[in-house]
Amino acid sequence: MSMFTPITFGKIELKNKIVMAPLTRSRAPGHLPNKLMREYYAQRASAGLILTEATVISEDAIGYADTPGIWSEDQVQEWKTITESVHAQGGKIVIQLWHVGRVSHSSLLNGKRPVAPSAVAMSGNIRRLGGGSVPYETPHELSFKEIKSIIDQYKLAAQNALRAGFDGVELHGANGYLVDQFLHDGTNKRNDEYGGSVEKRSRFLLEVLEALISVWGSERVGLHLSPYSNTHEVSDSDPDKLFEYVFKMLNKLNLSFVFIRNTTGSLEVYKKIRSWFKGHLIGNQNYSFDTASMELKSGLVDAVSFGRWYISNPDLVEKFQTGKALTPWNESTFYGGSEIGYTDY
Ligand SMILES: Cc1cc2nc3c(=O)[nH]c(=O)nc-3n(C[C@H](O)[C@H](O)[C@H](O)COP(=O)(O)O)c2cc1C
Repeated sequence: MSMFTPITFGKIELKNKIVMAPLTRSRAPGHLPNKLMREYYAQRASAGLILTEATVISEDAIGYADTPGIWSEDQVQEWKTITESVHAQGGKIVIQLWHVGRVSHSSLLNGKRPVAPSAVAMSGNIRRLGGGSVPYETPHELSFKEIKSIIDQYKLAAQNALRAGFDGVELHGANGYLVDQFLHDGTNKRNDEYGGSVEKRSRFLLEVLEALISVWGSERVGLHLSPYSNTHEVSDSDPDKLFEYVFKMLNKLNLSFVFIRNTTGSLEVYKKIRSWFKGHLIGNQNYSFDTASMELKSGLVDAVSFGRWYISNPDLVEKFQTGKALTPWNESTFYGGSEIGYTDY
């Protein structure tokens, strides 16, 4: 399978199998997308698919300064200029919808405590808050009613994304954020309909997906997962049992794609998922052109995604095609700042 030939995921047609991974760049002051972001995404439109940086669904879902949102009319209008620019360059762009759950702080939430399935705090200090060491707070345990209202927020964000002209939505279910906190029994200690068995811990994920599907149709909805990863201190007593159940349930939904951030580095992860799941998989983490080609050829994944290489190589597809050397990335300009290390590569 060549990286440079098209593939169709549900109703989304990719002109090649190279996907730009979601990359938080923290250049949206006031959580409002802007012209600089438009230029950045348009520069990368030769990707088969762009997944946007994680985008906050509501003011209660924020975890970091200067990350864009999709709850207000102004945000919708700004995103619209971005989707139009990407489409004008022949690209496709799907928005990643994000609620951080406990990975936040009251100073980012108008004084409200972060929320989570259970009142289990993360250890250590919150990152990228600016100004000293601030420990994570013990989150507020969501009530049944509050969970339903968060699902409504996802639906509203999906409706806003539709008006903003995206090609689809991707639920951020990875990296230890809210959806992941519900899935894992290290963070989900509930004993109601949303906790306990794997079925109950998966309920939040599946209900959010249903809400997104009600707006977009299943073939324009994707899901981002990081199975067997412990990012942001998620853990599970039986991850095989958890993810086997999740993937078997996903078979019933006919999603556009599932993105796997494979932090383990082991191909066994894709092999297991392939044995459970019949849909399209996008593989990710630490790919070079050669390793990505190998995983595509072996059929373990249907498309391949690059994160950091996309930061420093807006023309990644063309460089792969011509064999030109890749520009190294500069980590000091990953988060926040100006066009330097953003649109000037
Ligand atoms: C600066 C930076 C920001 C990131 N932001 C996000 C994000 O918003 N959403 C997400 O799902 N993953 C995010 N990731 C993870 C990447 O999407 C990707 O999974 C990771 O970089 C591994 O891919 P790579 O080895 O090709 O870089 C981020 C990674 C980096 C380096």
